[in-house]
This record gives sequence, structure tokens and C-alpha cells, in this order.
Amino acid sequence: MSSPRSVRVFGASRSGPAERSRYRASLLACAALCLACAGPAAEPPSAAWPLEGEAQRVVGDLGMVVSGHPLASEVGARVLERGGNAVDAAVAVGFALAAVLPRAGNIGGGGFFVYRSVDGELRALDFRERAPAAAHRDMFLDERGEVTDRSVLGALAAGVPGSVAGLWEMHTELGTLPWSELVEPAVELARGHLIDAVRSRDIEGSADQLRLFPASARQFLPGGTAPAPGTRFEQPDLARTLERIAELGPDGFYRGPVADLLVAEMERTGGVITHQDLLDYRAVWRDPVLVSYRGNSVASMPPPSSGGITLGQMLNMLEGFETLPPFGSPELVSLEVEVMRRAFVDRNHFLGDPDFVAVPRERLLSKEYAARLRSSIEPGRPTPSGEVEPGRPESSETTHYSIVDAEGNAASVTTTLNFSFGGKVTVTGAGFLLNDEMDDFAAAPGRANEYGLVQGEANAIAPGKRMLSSMTPTIVTGPAGRVRLVLGSPGGPAIITTVLQVILSVLDHDMTLVEAVEAPRVHHQALPDVIFVEPDGLDPETVRTLRDWGYRLEERDGWSGNVSAIARGDDGWQGVADPRRAGGAAAPRHAEAREAVARRAAGAP
Ligand code: DON
Repeated sequence: MSSPRSVRVFGASRSGPAERSRYRASLLACAALCLACAGPAAEPPSAAWPLEGEAQRVVGDLGMVVSGHPLASEVGARVLERGGNAVDAAVAVGFALAAVLPRAGNIGGGGFFVYRSVDGELRALDFRERAPAAAHRDMFLDERGEVTDRSVLGALAAGVPGSVAGLWEMHTELGTLPWSELVEPAVELARGHLIDAVRSRDIEGSADQLRLFPASARQFLPGGTAPAPGTRFEQPDLARTLERIAELGPDGFYRGPVADLLVAEMERTGGVITHQDLLDYRAVWRDPVLVSYRGNSVASMPPPSSGGITLGQMLNMLEGFETLPPFGSPELVSLEVEVMRRAFVDRNHFLGDPDFVAVPRERLLSKEYAARLRSSIEPGRPTPSGEVEPGRPESSETTHYSIVDAEGNAASVTTTLNFSFGGKVTVTGAGFLLNDEMDDFAAAPGRANEYGLVQGEANAIAPGKRMLSSMTPTIVTGPAGRVRLVLGSPGGPAIITTVLQVILSVLDHDMTLVEAVEAPRVHHQALPDVIFVEPDGLDPETVRTLRDWGYRLEERDGWSGNVSAIARGDDGWQGVADPRRAGGAAAPRHAEAREAVARRAAGAP
């Protein structure tokens, strides 16, 4: 028998009896499914999975915050202690991330928010960037029709930022604490905080490109290099911009001196965002995607993110298999890849900004359609995706945060600048980075973008249009109608497959949240027709079998996301930050949170 990862890594020490017996049952199913499973009894063990035992679990029964930076999670936990709800905490965490996680946290980017109130109300807010009015279909092509690097580097790459409008809209509709109190912690962090080794390395890793833009060099490379770990990292211009936002709300960003500085930066560095673009920006409430999966219900983001529909299609296809093959087995990888491939073919063809293209949402999400797609899947037999275009290396520059409060309201937010530090342009005098989200459009429909995604006309550039995203902020509710999981991740297109695999690990493979977040991941996006595997993520025997079946596999680092997740456990909420990129979980302190709950129950603010 081959030794799937789950035997060595996830089965032995930490699984309970139910889990083990289910695991054995699925091993038998695997044996029945595929004779290629049977191999030499004594397969030499490969290197241990390096993330085993790396994730920390934080437990709290009165709320939980998990984000891409421990300081931002602490900010959120303090808001919950002061009596703020999950949305108040989400607003504060969003701004804090702009100060402490500059590669991804932002006020110059955009994102998506999925919310579920304790009584079951679901909301989804789109604060994705839009193409400026001066954008046009071929704006990133050179004379020979080749895509230039201006879609990822410099001011032309920027879409009109949506983050400040989005956080404001969330707060206006659902928040309870005063706005300025929620922005204030970010002002303090921008004035100065001790930078850690991971974030210092992040800056150093992008130093060559940040150096191209004087304001970025001044802010992130004081004295010519990244601030050393443990030293105070100061961003006074950003602090001033955040102060204006604290005082004036979105008017502090989309109008007045900050808007003037942004437009001046455009004029200086070849961008096209105008004052009118800024004034026209609106966050938009959308109908969340809702799919049922084995008695659970999964709420996620609709277009202009592809996350919810693509995740929903994959879950719908998988639901037709009574049980999944065991974790780490070639049968499971093959099955996952085949559903990923089919969902991504649809994603790349049909999905785009729903205000510009008709998205056949109902059909794509119907169980009948899933059954049709499923009928062509034969685990162990790759279906070719078509002509292969090689993808280019990917990285992880989005950030996700998950929050629940004492009442059980849940907020799931993913936000991004697209690539690390966006287009690398800091707005001179205003201290914030601009996104390079324009690359998420199909700059040349039919050809690969920076993520190797080959997308169609539905996602071509047009003025005012939102570029298709893969961000997948998600909330899973259990059969009893209570929130079970809140999660999301960065990772470009691998966001969707990462979220899928964490959900499957918890719901189908009975892993704890820690195990599910640590577990090795695979990714397939139709084109290029390659399974991306984390280094040492699959057992050598599994790799051999998949290659024998005709799959192409590529071990790569750095694509596989950075999950921030919360699960309901027997002992309260469990918060787990992905060990891949040093996020953090924080629970409100018990005494303070209890007092806040009592105050709220008594009707006090
Ligand atoms: O919206 C999207 O799908 C991308 N801009 C997300 C980028 C991302 O996750 C960065 N990491 N690779």
C-alpha cells in the first residue's frame, strides 16, 4: 500500500478514534478504487512534511480574530473587548494591516467582505478596484501586440482603489463603535512599530523594484535597505493619511489633499486615475454565492470575484462522490485536479464583472450541471485542458482575515494590492502603495496573465469595469445552522483551490483545523495543464502513480496561500493562522469581553 501523507503526518498522533476508523474505511475504498495503489509494502519514507506541528491554535469562547499579522489581530481582539462587533473589528484590522503588512494590507487596493449575522443574514460587499475611465482594452500591449510589464509595475497598473469605501460601507451598515476609534490603532502603528523578521524580509525581497520609485524607496528603504528586524518602522505620511480618513471617512481619501496627491502621482509616473474616477468609486452589495455541501452551507463571494462560483462548482462536483479517497492518495489528487480543471475552464471563459457581462450564475452552480461535469471524470485519467501555456512564478500578496464576535456574527474579508507591494508605487506625500490590479484583467484575451491564467472576453479591459478576482472569503455553516468555519487566503488563482482543500480536510477528512491548515496542498487551474505541488507535499509513491497516469506535476514553493481560519470547536472558537507566512490569531481577553457582552445585553453602547 502506498503511504499517503495522511498516514504519516495526520493520522498517527493527533487523530481521534472516529477519524482513524473513517480513515481506514477510506483506505479500503481507495484499494477498491485503484489497483495502482498497491505497491511495495516497505516504501522508504520521504522527508517529513515541514509544516507539521508549525501552526498554533488560539482558543476563545467570546470571539476570535485571525489575520496575516499578529499585531493586526491584536487590534481586532481589543476592539471586540471594547464591545465592538465582528464588523467593527474587521474595519480596525483592515486599516491596521495597511500599516503592518504593507505588501498586501492596504488602503490603495480593494477586496471583498462576506458576512453572516448570528441569525443567519448573509451579506457580500464588493470593494474591488475598477478600471479608470481612461482605461482601454489594449492599454498594456506594445506595437507587436505583446503584453508589457506596465500591467504589474508602475502607476498605470493601478485600478481605482476600493478599500476605504469598502471599510466605510461595512461600518455604515453593520458597525457599532465610532469610525475614528477603529482607524486610530492603524494611525499609531503607522507612526511606528517594531518590524518583525518576516516583514523586513518581505521588503528586502522587493527592494529592487521599490527603489525604482522615490517615495517607495524613502518609506520602505530608509538608508537604502529594509528596516532591520526589531527596529522601529515609521511611516509618517501614511499616518497623516490615516488621520484624515479617521476624521473625514472616505472624503479623507477620495477628495481633498490625499486625492490631489494620488492624482499628482499619476501625472508624475504615467498613471491615468483622475479626480473624477475617485469621486465615482462606490462599493457594491452583491448576492452571496450559497451552495450546500453534505448538509453544510457554504457562503462565498460572487462576481466580480470568481471565488464563490468556482468553489461552489468544485464542491457540487465532489458532493456526488459518497466519500473522498484518503488524504494524500493519488486518487484524491486526481479527483481534485479534475474538478479544479473543469471549474477553472468555466471560470476563465464565463466570469467577469457582472455589471458588464452576463454571468450564467444559476446554471454554473446547479447540481444538474455539476452532475454533467462529474460524469466525465474518471479518477486516474487526466482530461487534457487543451493547448498548454506555461505559467510564470507566483507569489502571495493578498491577505485574508476572519473574525467572529461573542454573539457569533462572522466576518470574512480578503483584500489585496495584487502583487507584493502592488505596482511598487507609493503615493508621494500620502504614504500608501497603489495596487497593480489591472493585471487581473485579460490584457490580451486568450493569452496568459502573470498567474498563467488564460482568460477570455468576459474579462477584457473596459473603462469602469472591475477585473475578475479569485478572492474567496468564505463562511461555512453546519447542519444545525451555526457557523462552523470562517476562512480565506491569498494566492491568486490558488486561493480558490486552497479554500476548497481546507474545507474538504475539515468536512471530509475529519482533520482538526490545525491539521487542515498545515496540510500540503495541490493546485490546478486548467491552463497550464500542470498540477502544482508544494515541495515534499506528496508522497513519492503518489507522485509516481500520478505521473504513470499521465499527469504533469511541478513542485513549487510560494504559491499555496496563507490561510486565516476560525472553526467552532468543543472548547470555543479556534483560530489558526497559516504557518506558511507568519500571521497570527488573537482572542479577546475573557474578563473584558464578558463585560462588553453584558453591556450590550443591557442595551448600552
Ligand atoms: O484578485 C485576485 O484574484 C488577485 N489579485 C489576488 C492576488 C493574490 O492573491 C496575490 N497572491 N498571489
